[in-house]
Amino acid sequence: MKWSAVILAAGIGVRMKSATPKPLHRVSGVPMLKYVCDAARAAGISDLTIVVAPSHADSAEFRAAAGKDARFVVQTEQKGTADALLAARESAADADAVLILHGDTPLITPETLRSLIDEHERSDATVTLATASPAPVDGLGRIVRNDGGEIRAIVEQQDADHETLAINEVNAGWYGFDGNWIWDTLTALQRSAGGEYYLTDAVESAVRASLTVASVSVGDPNEILGVNTRSQLAVAEGLMRQRQRDHWMDQGVTLIDPAATYIDASATLAPDVTIHPNSHILGTSTIASGCEIGPNSIVIDTTIGEDSRFVSSHAEGATIGKRVSVGPFSRLRNGAVLHDDVYIGNYAEIKKSTIGSGTHVGHFSYVGDADLGRRVNIGAGTVTANYDGKQKNRTVIGDDTLVGSGSMLVAPVHIGNGAVTGAGAVVTHDVPPGATVTGVPARPVKARPEDDLTPDQPGQVEQETKARSESGAATGN
Ligand code: UD1
Ligand code: CA
Repeated sequence: MKWSAVILAAGIGVRMKSATPKPLHRVSGVPMLKYVCDAARAAGISDLTIVVAPSHADSAEFRAAAGKDARFVVQTEQKGTADALLAARESAADADAVLILHGDTPLITPETLRSLIDEHERSDATVTLATASPAPVDGLGRIVRNDGGEIRAIVEQQDADHETLAINEVNAGWYGFDGNWIWDTLTALQRSAGGEYYLTDAVESAVRASLTVASVSVGDPNEILGVNTRSQLAVAEGLMRQRQRDHWMDQGVTLIDPAATYIDASATLAPDVTIHPNSHILGTSTIASGCEIGPNSIVIDTTIGEDSRFVSSHAEGATIGKRVSVGPFSRLRNGAVLHDDVYIGNYAEIKKSTIGSGTHVGHFSYVGDADLGRRVNIGAGTVTANYDGKQKNRTVIGDDTLVGSGSMLVAPVHIGNGAVTGAGAVVTHDVPPGATVTGVPARPVKARPEDDLTPDQPGQVEQETKARSESGAATGN
């Protein structure tokens, strides 16, 4: 049977009181519409039509959420769910069966859709719908069955009498329809009292024509939660966050305090990652095994390599290697690339810079638009002065250099391999490899034969720092 899915996403979503279209509101960092499209694809349906309002026909955000292969059709006026489906008539015309989904049910699962598809095919039904019971019923259509348990109608809450309101089986809004039957049926529907064309009335049409109406019940009633209001959005958020946490714990991730851990649905974690409380792993972040993240950390669109440590810090758009230590209290901004074994201590800010392996930026430093080599030691309070008021300039620092505390590196500037800058040096000119510069503006000092200014062991740095402080070169460590 050839299936096509139609996702209704043209509603105004008035109750959200938002400038953002409802299907693009995010749950666990991902637009609601994306969950619905992904679930349809995971259930085996790749032919997708999205029904949107005219103003969203060319929306890049809608297209990104729906995926490249989805087709978009426009519902000119928001006249109800049946009218919305009719907009997809041509797009889904050659399907034997049409799966209808709503853009506001992010907790939908492929398993439920698979069972709906299987039941529709097995029972050769005209309509198959997903229902939930007992479910949070508020605002949902009630399923009316006869004494034999057959579905007779779906009654919307606002049209229901007292007795119907007491029914606790509700309509998920996900249906399989016979593709040869649905389209003409839609055109014959009457307006509801509220002036809308209800897709739920198509079920009654099938009943009146004595056609088969089948149903499947949703395993977890929470799955059908439709988001119409901000409070429902918050409920969906809570349920989805719990789903993410359960998933990652199943995959071998330790969450010290799950309730205080926030993992976006678009993030990826490896087994043996440990997340400490109040940590947020957001966007497309990827955390490799052996990492410890948190407490109190925010990691956005950032990749962290194996066995790294990230404490009370903030990273966005950064790439972090293996065995790196960051924090507490540092910030990695877009384009920060930290190679293996880098050490970033407290109150450091790194932006659009590469930091070579084994390099230390221990305290109170700004490194922006810079390329640091390997085993560099950046002293406390060092600043790359990258902005001259007009443009950003780069700073290049060679391997094994020792940048003294409080150095101002006025870009563009190049510090050669093994060079040293003294404490408080304001470096305005390039420093040749192996040279030591001090002062304001920094000038070379004469090298004394007893000074070996190339630190080649991490432990050597501290000793040499003492020695060099006599010559005016010093770092914070
Ligand atoms: C609908 C069902 C209800 C069901 C509930 C499940 C109808 C009449 N009611 O109610 O039985 O329990 O979903 O969540 O179908 N849309 C359009 N164009 C329109 C109107 C709506 O595209 O003119 C889209 C919306 O964007 C939304 C979906 O259809 O994605 C459902 O519309 P909504 O207004 O949220 O329907 P509910 O009142 O929730
Ligand atoms: Ca809804």
